[in-house]
Amino acid sequence: MTRSLEDLASPYLRGLIPYSPGKPIEEVERELGISNSVKLASNENALGPSPLALQALREALPGIHRYPDGSGHSLRQALGRHWDVAPELVILGNGSNELLELAGRCFLLPGDEAVYAEQAFIVYDLVAQVTGAAKVRVPLTNFTHDLDAIRAALSPRTKLVFIGNPNNPTGTAVPARALEAFLESVPSEVLVILDEAYYEYLPPELIPDALRFVRAGRLVLVLRTFSKIYGLAGLRIGYGIGPAPLVGLLNRAREPFNTNSLAQAAATAALSDEQHVASTRAITETGRKFLTEQCRALGLRVVPSVANFLLVDVGRPGPATADALLRHGVIVRPMAGYGFPTHLRISVGTPPENERCIAALKAVLGK
Ligand SMILES: Cc1ncc(COP(=O)(O)O)c(C=O)c1O
Repeated sequence: MTRSLEDLASPYLRGLIPYSPGKPIEEVERELGISNSVKLASNENALGPSPLALQALREALPGIHRYPDGSGHSLRQALGRHWDVAPELVILGNGSNELLELAGRCFLLPGDEAVYAEQAFIVYDLVAQVTGAAKVRVPLTNFTHDLDAIRAALSPRTKLVFIGNPNNPTGTAVPARALEAFLESVPSEVLVILDEAYYEYLPPELIPDALRFVRAGRLVLVLRTFSKIYGLAGLRIGYGIGPAPLVGLLNRAREPFNTNSLAQAAATAALSDEQHVASTRAITETGRKFLTEQCRALGLRVVPSVANFLLVDVGRPGPATADALLRHGVIVRPMAGYGFPTHLRISVGTPPENERCIAALKAVLGK
């Protein structure tokens, strides 16, 4: 009897459609024979990394023959001070993506249920799929998480709930009080993963106090990242804040050196760079307003966003439109894989990048 490779692998892998990341600029340019393209496809920081982070990287470079501090002591201390939580409540990840996976691995088994929105960050779906857990996907209402419907979808078999706030790919956030009431209402034996990758972009009135639940020992894991406003996506570093027993449990299954020394040094510096964060917020707000108005002037529907990206309905197949934009040197993400066949997700860039994007859209749409 011979077993195929597929037979050898976990049966849950067979149904897995791999995450397709935005192509690197270099690859797109090589393929199309173009140069000077702009990448507005992965919601990165248009301003680039914090200068303080770059300085910290230069200083940390001579030490990279050593293994990193596996516990990330300095960064966890800094995060603890920053968010007014004990450092024991903080866990670092190789991107917040790793912590999503770690939580899935620690909690989900076949027969369990993971609940999340139908159109949310695709990794929630991948995490559930590889563990064999049932995927309970709740429709959005008006492009926004429907917390009442998510609450109603919980069952005795629910172990994990994923909430992205702001949500990717729609850029919407739920009212702060509604989110807090939701966290209050979830049964104490269900883990809520509140994915706040775009937290720092939220306007003050939409900022929920989820850490209050963590401090009270509720099963809430707040995930944040250095990939977005802090401009360190290439270094891969994010963090989670959760009650100490939960963090202790996740640490048991964590790879010992999951975050590298350069990432830890840069993240510690970036966290203190308030000027870089403020400039990023300002350039993002201006750019988001510009892109929204210009797209609407072209007759396109734009979902009102509070993040550093926009979901835009181009009224024709998104993948073909994104391909056409590529030929004009503008890289954006078609959202057909998320169930939005005629939408593109456009990250906010610098003012010249945003102008390039609008000019390319006009050319491609014949406006
Ligand atoms: C909602 C959301 N969560 C998590 C992530 C993962 O970010 P990272 O692994 O870079 O921290 C992303 C990245 O795009 C995201 O959009």
